[in-house]
Amino acid sequence: MGADPDKAFGVYVHWPFCLSKCPYCDFNSHVRHAAIDEARFARAFAREIAATAARIGPRDVSSIFLGGGTPSLMQPSTVGAILDAIGKHWRVTPDAEVSLEANPTSVEATRFRGYRAAGVNRVSLGVQALDDASLKTLGRLHTAQEAMDAVAIARSAFDRYSFDLIYARPGQTPAMWEAELRRAIGEAAEHLSLYQLTIEAETPFFALHRAGKLQTPDESASRALYDVTQSVCAELGLPAYEISNHARPGAECKHNLVYWRGQEYAGIGPGAHGRLDIGGTRYAIATEKRPESWMMRVEATGTGVITDDRLNSEERADEFLLMGLRLAEGIDPRRYQALAGRSLDPSRIALLCAEGAIAVDADGRLRVTQAGFPVLDAVVADLAA
Ligand SMILES: C[S@@+](CC[C@H](N)C(=O)[O-])C[C@H]1O[C@@H](n2cnc3c(N)ncnc32)[C@H](O)[C@@H]1O
Ligand code: SF4
Repeated sequence: MGADPDKAFGVYVHWPFCLSKCPYCDFNSHVRHAAIDEARFARAFAREIAATAARIGPRDVSSIFLGGGTPSLMQPSTVGAILDAIGKHWRVTPDAEVSLEANPTSVEATRFRGYRAAGVNRVSLGVQALDDASLKTLGRLHTAQEAMDAVAIARSAFDRYSFDLIYARPGQTPAMWEAELRRAIGEAAEHLSLYQLTIEAETPFFALHRAGKLQTPDESASRALYDVTQSVCAELGLPAYEISNHARPGAECKHNLVYWRGQEYAGIGPGAHGRLDIGGTRYAIATEKRPESWMMRVEATGTGVITDDRLNSEERADEFLLMGLRLAEGIDPRRYQALAGRSLDPSRIALLCAEGAIAVDADGRLRVTQAGFPVLDAVVADLAA
C-alpha cells in the first residue's frame, strides 16, 4: 500500500459547520444562521497549529485531511490560510495527500478549482445515494444529478477523488443496491467509501426508528447487502482495504491509513481528535466541540484542547488492535506484543482461525476474513480480552 508506515504523520482539521443537519448524522456539525467569521476561525486554526507544533516539534506531514461538518463551505482563501499555517510549522512532504470533504451541491463545486490552487489535491464527496427519493429521506440538499455533476467537476479539477454512499437504507433490497453500486463504480475513479446506515443515538432517525416509522434492513438483509458490496466492488477492481473503504490497489486514502495503522496525527479545530507521540509516550487529545467556545479557548490560551490523556501500554495496544483489524492487511502481532508487553492469546487465535473469522498469513500478519468482518466487534473483543 505504498508509504513507509513508520514515517506517516497526518494533520486532521475539522470545519464544524453545515447548511443543515442531516437526520442520521451525529458528527460535530452545527448550523449557524448568521455569517461565519472565516478569517477569525482561520487565525484560530493557525494558532492551534502553532501551539501543537511548539509542543511536539518538527514533523514531516504526509497527509492533511480537511473534514467536517462541511469544509466545502469554506472560501478557498480560508483553506489556503490553514494549509499555509501547517506548512509554516512543519515540513509538508512533496507527495503529501491533501484531502477536503465536500458536499456535492452546484455552489460548492464552483470552489473546487480554488481549493486546488490553494493546495488541495484530493476531494471526498458525500454523494450518499444515486436516487432523489433516497436523498430526500436522508435529508440531503442536493439531487442525484447535481451530485453527479459535482463528481464530474471533481474529476476535471483533481487527479484523485472519492465519494461516499450510504447503504442499508430503508426499503433497499440487495438487487437495488447492486444496480446502484455498479452505476457508482462507473463514476468512481479509484476510491469509494460505502457506509452501512447506522442509527445513531440522539439523531432524528433514532427517534423515528424507535417509533417504528423508519424501517432499516434486519440482520440477514444487512448481511446480504454487505456481501453484495464486497463481491461487486472486488469484481470491478475496487476491493475493500478497510471495512467500509474500497480502492484500486495503490489508491487507498493515505490519511485514513494513518488512523488505522495506529500512526501519529494532530487534530486541529473544534471537536478534533489527535494522537501525539511526545517523549515516547502517546497522548490521546480532544478539543472543545462547540465552535465558538473552541475559538474563545484558542484565543485565550493558544489551543482548544480539553482532553489530554497519556495512554498506558494496555490502552495503546487495544487501540492498535481495534483500528488495525479494520484493515484487510490486518496487523503485525509482533507490534501488538511490543506495545502491550505480552502476546495475543494463542488459544484464542487458534479458535477464531478454526471458526474462519481470522487468518494468520505466511508472514505472520493476522487479519480478519470476509466471514469475520460482519462480526468484527466481537472478534476484536475476543482477541483483546
Ligand atoms: C461527516 S460526513 C462529512 C461529509 C459531508 N458533510 C457530507 O455529508 O457530504 C462523512 C460521511 O459519513 C457518513 N455518515 C455520516 N453519518 C452516518 C450514519 N449515521 N450512517 C452511515 N454513514 C454515515 C456519510 O456518508 C458522510 O458522507
Ligand atoms: S452528513 Fe455531512 S452535511 Fe449532513 S450534517 Fe453530517 S456533516 Fe453535515
